[in-house]
Amino acid sequence: MAVQRYVSNKMKYNKVLLKDPWISPYVPETLWFSVTALKDMLSVYPTVFVKPNSNHRGNQILRIRNVSQQEPRSQKKSLYELCYSYKKEVKTCSLEEVIEEVVNEIKLNEKFIVQQGIDLATFGGLPFDLRILMHKPEERWQISGWLARVAKKGQIVTNHIRGAKAMPLDHVLKDNSHLNSTDLMIKLGDLAHQISQALGSYFDLRILALDMAVDKNGKLWFIEMNSDPMFRKMFKEIGNKEMVANVIHIRNYIIKKYKYTKSKKKVK
Ligand SMILES: Nc1ncnc2c1ncn2[C@@H]1O[C@H](COP(=O)(O)OP(=O)(O)O)[C@@H](O)[C@H]1O
Ligand SMILES: [Mg+2]
Repeated sequence: MAVQRYVSNKMKYNKVLLKDPWISPYVPETLWFSVTALKDMLSVYPTVFVKPNSNHRGNQILRIRNVSQQEPRSQKKSLYELCYSYKKEVKTCSLEEVIEEVVNEIKLNEKFIVQQGIDLATFGGLPFDLRILMHKPEERWQISGWLARVAKKGQIVTNHIRGAKAMPLDHVLKDNSHLNSTDLMIKLGDLAHQISQALGSYFDLRILALDMAVDKNGKLWFIEMNSDPMFRKMFKEIGNKEMVANVIHIRNYIIKKYKYTKSKKKVK
């Protein structure tokens, strides 16, 4: 009997995507967390994210941003801003203090990763990312719904559970007048299909949600995949009842036809 696979290993699915030369440019650079990895990433990127390797619904995420004015940035003299997804505090400190704080926060008790930060495009001054629901009822993947998730003020993550607001995708993209929203939506659709094909065939999936992002220059990025995505609340929030009904219909069709069960088999 087929069992719904629960894929929650960012390093593992990134590795699958990095094998595909068409998709790999859209995957932010990601390393297993270590002090050396954090230092290396901060020497290359102005912003980095430290987060758990498994799906955590926006919990336990840290953002470290170089806020020094001088160019080129010398790490020794640099100042960094440290923000958390799980508390309001913001710290400005030296590299040594950043390292001490991050190591202390994550306690190295779980596998964490350090990732190139994407400078997310904004809506009303707040960063947003994109949630795309993908289904494969027969031979082909299809987009069953998509929306933008606009971060709550002061929050560094765009998870709905962390207060982000769901908004219609076209509305949010059109608001960024320097971006070509029609072109972006076509590219996003293409990329979502390519990624679903790659992940779906590797992990044997027929339902998945992709978290993608557009940066301030209009470049698309892959942030993460969810094999057991929540969608009802988010899609109801944008008032698209037709989309919700469609998603439920396709989902139920897949669950019945392929005997997806509620018990989850974790793919390591
Ligand atoms: N590299 C990054 N650059 C910019 N924002 C990021 C990055 N990684 C995560 N985020 C923000 O944090 C949110 C949660 O990160 P994600 O990797 O999806 O972890 P989780 O499994 O906790 O949902 C993303 O939706 C995005 O808003
Ligand atoms: Mg996520």
